Amino acid sequence: MRWTRFLIGAAMLSLLTTCAQTKPLSPPPDTTQMIIIEEASASSPSGELTLTLSTPNSVPHWQALWKGKAITAPAKLGIAFASVRDLDHGLSIVSVTKVTHDKTWEQPWGERRLIRDHHTELAADFAHADGQRAFTLRVRLFDDGLGLRYEVPADGERIITDELTEFRLPEDAQTWWIEAGGWNRYEYLYQETPLSEVHRAHTPLTAKLPGGPYISIHEAALTDYAGMWLNQRRPGVLQADLAPWSDGAKVKVNGSFTTPWRTLQISETAAGLANSNIILNLNEPNRLGSDLSWIKPSKYVGIWWCMHVNECSWGSGDKHGATTERTTQYIDFAAKHGLDGVLIEGWNHGWNGDWFANGEVFDFTAPYPDFDLEYLSNYAKERNVHLIGHHETSGAVTNYEEQMEAAYALYQKLGISAVKTGYVADGGQLTRRDANGKTYHEWHDGQYAVRHHLRALQTAAKYKISLNAHEPVKDTGLRRTYPNALSREGARGQEYNAWGQPPNDPAHTTILPFTRMLAGPMDFTPGIFDLSFGKDLSEETRVQTTLAKQLALYVILYSPIQMAADLPRNYDARPDAFQFIKDVPVDWENSITLDGHPGDFIVTVRQERGTNAWYLGAITDENARTVQIPLDFLDGFAYEVQIYRDGPNADWRINPYAFETAFQTVSQHDTLTLQLAPGGGTAIAFIPVE
Ligand code: NOJ
Ligand code: CA
Repeated sequence: MRWTRFLIGAAMLSLLTTCAQTKPLSPPPDTTQMIIIEEASASSPSGELTLTLSTPNSVPHWQALWKGKAITAPAKLGIAFASVRDLDHGLSIVSVTKVTHDKTWEQPWGERRLIRDHHTELAADFAHADGQRAFTLRVRLFDDGLGLRYEVPADGERIITDELTEFRLPEDAQTWWIEAGGWNRYEYLYQETPLSEVHRAHTPLTAKLPGGPYISIHEAALTDYAGMWLNQRRPGVLQADLAPWSDGAKVKVNGSFTTPWRTLQISETAAGLANSNIILNLNEPNRLGSDLSWIKPSKYVGIWWCMHVNECSWGSGDKHGATTERTTQYIDFAAKHGLDGVLIEGWNHGWNGDWFANGEVFDFTAPYPDFDLEYLSNYAKERNVHLIGHHETSGAVTNYEEQMEAAYALYQKLGISAVKTGYVADGGQLTRRDANGKTYHEWHDGQYAVRHHLRALQTAAKYKISLNAHEPVKDTGLRRTYPNALSREGARGQEYNAWGQPPNDPAHTTILPFTRMLAGPMDFTPGIFDLSFGKDLSEETRVQTTLAKQLALYVILYSPIQMAADLPRNYDARPDAFQFIKDVPVDWENSITLDGHPGDFIVTVRQERGTNAWYLGAITDENARTVQIPLDFLDGFAYEVQIYRDGPNADWRINPYAFETAFQTVSQHDTLTLQLAPGGGTAIAFIPVE
């Protein structure tokens, strides 16, 4: 083969790329005359964020610059395979295209209705020395971050043994992270350490660079690939570490494939990370058609906390929680207070015995005899309340897949349109059964689980059912494509406060918005009012917040479904505080995180969808804090302000119930001063005065 190499520098490249602006895709390389581009770069619309691609020693590298300064060091790109040649060396950039994109799209439900997708797209073709295209690296540069992904041409069936994408960051960057590849999936307390102390971490991983911006690494549009962990190899080098299959393969591909986007969010402030839309923007538009009226943001109560605090049981017997009688009481309670849903756990066969260990016996269409499913769904409907279904699988995924259609069909017939699923099993212990009945153990975030969760969403959509998965795979923004992906867990939720092993410390919910919540909504289940459930307050294995902070969490921790998680009798005892839970919306026109720092505090405001009312949540860690809130986010009305705050001397340790409400009138020219108690918070409703 005869071909000539031309080396093109950055200056000439910009000319080339300008000419290529109208071409959405680059042509296959001409193997007789290969143009080699030494360096390719593109900038975000404002010019503040730049990404550069290069191939020192024929190894593909990327680097990000923020306001003219390098924020990541040149880091490798590449993919390795079991039986075909690796895509990590001997490569050159042979063609580059750039386009800009600016479009605003609407979310059917969400934390904000309108989302602007404004980015520069760079597509660089990398080729082997023989001219064969290795992959296209597609990069989207937004003003608050970037996504990059590999688009790899067909080459039959292959096994990916490793993805070699690296993120190179300063070793002393202050980092918030949880361990990946451990037994407890995503349910860890966050660690705050220098980057050099990260071992293997989940994403989103968030860091503050020394003297520089906050960044967060995550991924978007994980649909048929393994979840990415970040493994610190050499100090400062986080390498993609894909959750493996039980046979050691990382990803099984057939034909051409596209990886999820590897994302880097960047902001001068921590609040800026929380206000970013890049994860959603990097997902595909809605595929569930134009009638999405069956997908309903809602508030719910449930036969749930009573199991966690050991007052009742999931399994049948004397303590059985999900009885017809108790469920009617919950339905009556929801109807009385205008809440939409009642979740019922422990309604179906399979819970008796050690359900953690044996998911194969779950039957998703067989209610216990003391739970009259049909009667209760009608009883609820007549009161304008909906039952919320529950499918705990204990990680026995094949058992669930075998019953999924029948289970969703049953719920649809009864008018049940939302289902909470659960995959309680240690990390790496999901059970997959093959056609011969042999079982294998898989990760909650390996390709097998990723495929399962997508299949569950697609199957549920056929029956007009929305899902809320616990012990899920992490969120990567698929709710844009499948809006029936309502919410999920995937972090340490309220339940840990019941179990006390240990409970969530006061800082935990100030870290979540800057880490886990960057991925998407979380079913944290706020609203515990009896903070010690029978224990003495001096015992710290209880809820480590004030009462007011529980209310603020409804605004801070976004979810389109929010649970009023406590027992009805505890709400009956505190109508003053319960009023906020009754009033707070779950669907928003806009959301703005005003201020905050992971592990310290956060202040978020949200405008109710379809009205001019605004809601505010402010929470702090174990330290008392005074925060000033200029009200310039409000519209030009006078507002009646309903404040739910820590009372005098409130303190999560010794005086968590000190609580007061206050009312005043304000406008957008005012500033509010909030006093947050240790472990405390404030919740506010701003209602426009006609
Ligand atoms: C763990 C879930 O997080 C919790 O909400 C649920 O009650 C139990 N599994 C049982 O499914
Ligand atoms: Ca859980």
